Amino acid sequence: MAKNWKTKLIHSDAKIPEGFRSLSVGVQRGSTVLFPDAASVKDEWDQYEVGYTYGLYGTPTTLELASRVCELEHGYRTLITPGGQCAISLINLAFLKAGDHVLIPESVYTPNRKFAVHVLRKFGVEVGFYPPEAGSGITTHFRPNTRMVWCESPGSITLEVQDVPAIAEAAHQRAALVVIDNTWSAGVHFDAFAHGIDITMQALTKYIGGHSDLLLGSITTRDEKAWRQLGATQQLVGCAASPDDCSLALRGMKSLAVRLRAIEQAALELARWLSERPEIERVLHPALPSCPGHEFWKRDFTGSTGVFSIVFQSNFSKAQVQGFVNRLELFKIGYSWAGVTSLAVAYDFHGTPGRPNYGHRVVRLNIGLEDAGDLQADLGRALAAMAS
Ligand SMILES: Cc1ncc(COP(=O)(O)O)c(C=O)c1O
Repeated sequence: MAKNWKTKLIHSDAKIPEGFRSLSVGVQRGSTVLFPDAASVKDEWDQYEVGYTYGLYGTPTTLELASRVCELEHGYRTLITPGGQCAISLINLAFLKAGDHVLIPESVYTPNRKFAVHVLRKFGVEVGFYPPEAGSGITTHFRPNTRMVWCESPGSITLEVQDVPAIAEAAHQRAALVVIDNTWSAGVHFDAFAHGIDITMQALTKYIGGHSDLLLGSITTRDEKAWRQLGATQQLVGCAASPDDCSLALRGMKSLAVRLRAIEQAALELARWLSERPEIERVLHPALPSCPGHEFWKRDFTGSTGVFSIVFQSNFSKAQVQGFVNRLELFKIGYSWAGVTSLAVAYDFHGTPGRPNYGHRVVRLNIGLEDAGDLQADLGRALAAMAS
């Protein structure tokens, strides 16, 4: 059929050579997915079962990332979400209903806590918090309607490592689902399913992305039933991840092992050095005995990553702690973590219910890929200035 040039802009006859093979996964964007004929049109989310039907459920780029995360976490299947927080809220929406009770550790990532308090409670879900050190003692927090228990190990900012197998066993005796935020371990240093977890989520924004330039999340299930419930919910919530971001995460993943090894070594070196400094009361690094739950890290983890916190001695004022952070030159100030740039953020726990009594004395560090000696010198300069 002869075509006007305006039609050719949309329906082109241009030909290119076939047979291109690259080492990287192609970026396949698309909302519309083409069907071969009128009878084949359908809107089904499970593209493993029915083939591709709509971009919302993922293009081959998204599903490639999903299956690779699943492979690393030894799960049944993985869903990709537009961010880690979206993975958290989607899990809650998929598995909780009015009248259910959910238990969340006090050390959880703050937006996870806020979603429970501000959204779940609004929809009639009962929300309870438990001390991250509870272990099998979590039974005292159960109610007859407890349907889900969240874990985050180590916890955000205060890094308590949880006795996950004990919590999972107690929860399973009451037929409650056990979910973990497995972001700190990058999904590789803690085998969540081998320790009794039913559903894992990660902020891929962190170590999998690895370069502070994307937002993505993942949810991995142990079994098909949970996968179906999540997939059906994602379809209706309508949260789709960008294939461009997935492609960046796929690239980030290739260097994950070497990044993690370098970051682990540097973080341990700095954490040990900091624990000897007179200005520091305590170093909260899961691989050091000074961290609550260190024994569970030793028992259950195969390595550590680059995020840990320091607690200053009680004689330092809030202004002095903030001054320390402000004086750092290589450590930048900013949220999120697990990129190649070292970061420092000061936290104030005054009046935060259920959190340790560290007050304004906590600084969380993210160790990046700079030279560890330079980072130590930067920290040393800022500490020395604090004392003077
Ligand atoms: C432990 C943890 N979980 C989840 C998230 C949320 O991830 P995102 O920023 O991709 O929404 C974060 C982000 O800081 C986090 O630290």
